Amino acid sequence: MVDRVLGRSGNEIDAVAEISRPFVYKVLPDLLGLPQWGRDHMAAFGHMVWATMGPQNALFQEAMQNNPEPVFKWVDECCNRENLDPEGLGMKMFEAADRGAISQDEAKLLVQILLSAAADTTVMTLSTAIRAFCQFPEQYQRLRREPALVRAAFEESLRWDSPSRLAGRITTKDVDIEGVTIPAGTRCGLLFAAANRDPRKWTAPDEFDLGREVRGHVGWGFGVHSCVGRLLAGLEAEALLGAIVRRIGRFESAGEPEPWMTTIGHGPARLPVRVSVSA
Ligand code: HEM
Repeated sequence: MVDRVLGRSGNEIDAVAEISRPFVYKVLPDLLGLPQWGRDHMAAFGHMVWATMGPQNALFQEAMQNNPEPVFKWVDECCNRENLDPEGLGMKMFEAADRGAISQDEAKLLVQILLSAAADTTVMTLSTAIRAFCQFPEQYQRLRREPALVRAAFEESLRWDSPSRLAGRITTKDVDIEGVTIPAGTRCGLLFAAANRDPRKWTAPDEFDLGREVRGHVGWGFGVHSCVGRLLAGLEAEALLGAIVRRIGRFESAGEPEPWMTTIGHGPARLPVRVSVSA
């Protein structure tokens, strides 16, 4: 893929459509052991997943308007046991069901949850890293000199512009935050993206800084329900961003990114960039 991108040096490319999305949309279903057929439904499925988290607004209508049935059918069938690669991660869920740890229905649901939770979050975070490389070229040059910082770059992009902007919780007891009491039983939105740029926690929060101590960001959520897939996402980032920094000398913006905004998530839907071999 990096070869293909470099073959178009100097031309405008969309980093989402040509770099981050094709990478994740191949690696993830391969890893889960999904069949090859129907994978072209992944983008529409992702759209639906994000659009259904929140009110049934215009975004929801838009995600559902183009005959969703074939997408539902694909998600239903591709995660069935008989369609999974016996060596894939998806099959591990069914093996857990065989051991009695969960039911067979839960095993299938878990495969579907992994498919929905792991795709666009990772696409958006990788795309955001590339946006940061355009906006902070000196940081990209540092990353090229110190490729061991690739994981740090991924974590910093997650802090800098978190794709999962918020998550919902219900308080189980009265909670006191800086003199304000939130009563037990209150529905709350935890604003991860805002916390990740809170100036009381972060110095120069709007800067993408590879040297920052990024531990403590909440781009993966927080507590018992924080992201179970962070190690996998980190591995994907190491593979893709590692290959990128070894080969691509420079990224520059080729136009305004087109934002994708849902109730819960956001990220670039389109990211026009130019790449070159030399710095
Ligand atoms: C950069 C990529 C990713 C980001 C930014 C991300 C973000 C998040 C966040 C913020 C949460 C917490 C939601 C909450 O507190 O309610 C979460 C939960 C979760 N994530 Fe991720 N995620 C990513 C990748 C993945 C991957 C690769 C997988 C699967 C392999 C995954 C599976 C899950 C699951 C299953 C949960 C629910 C955990 C629970 O409720 O106990 N995520 N993720």
